[in-house]
Amino acid sequence: MFVKIKNYLSRKISTKSKERFEYQFQKGKWDGLSHVDDLARYSIIAGYCSHFKKNASLLDVGCAQGVLQDRLIKVDFTNIVGIDFSEEGIRMAQPKSDNITRFEVGDMNKWKSNEMFDIIVFNESLYYADDHLAVLKRFENQLNKGGIFIISMFDRKNSPELWEDIETNYGILHQTKITNPHGTFWNVKVFEVKN
Ligand SMILES: C[S@@+](CC[C@H](N)C(=O)[O-])C[C@H]1O[C@@H](n2cnc3c(N)ncnc32)[C@H](O)[C@@H]1O
Repeated sequence: MFVKIKNYLSRKISTKSKERFEYQFQKGKWDGLSHVDDLARYSIIAGYCSHFKKNASLLDVGCAQGVLQDRLIKVDFTNIVGIDFSEEGIRMAQPKSDNITRFEVGDMNKWKSNEMFDIIVFNESLYYADDHLAVLKRFENQLNKGGIFIISMFDRKNSPELWEDIETNYGILHQTKITNPHGTFWNVKVFEVKN
């Protein structure tokens, strides 16, 4: 009983907690990501990937069940990796693995790899970072020369401050604002590392 109450409270308290996401995946809270109402956001990210990089390696940070991977034009990629700290999210993504696509459990606050990428996507995930600029800085080490970050964030309370921080530190290559019939707004922006 005590453990149940403790778990319930921790889900309530921290929007960043892994346990909260595991619970939400199990309850189907994120199933709606595949809905047509979110299509424009994935489509612009897929379009930006194809426009800015050809034969690219891509890392999708906070990939959840791999909805973006369904929208990518696979011939444009040599290698696609999705990471998410939710084991349940990654379990749901695994059927989408193929000869160029793999998924693994990883926490964006700690994840490191020897692999290098041309594109690193934070699709509605960066605001869950412990420290968004520190996370971007660390992921710079995984970017090939000339590599880009593609970041999507919907208009929530702290988004303007996060964008300001990011735009101060990275060069913006392009941005698009998207809305859906329910009035949700997303900004999707492409950044390069400043020299
Ligand atoms: C709003 S969902 C977005 C999912 C996916 N990018 C999409 O748009 O289809 C946020 C995702 O970020 C993941 N996430 C949150 N904190 C994370 C962390 N520290 N490391 C890795 N993934 C994280 C969650 O598990 C969840 O799958």
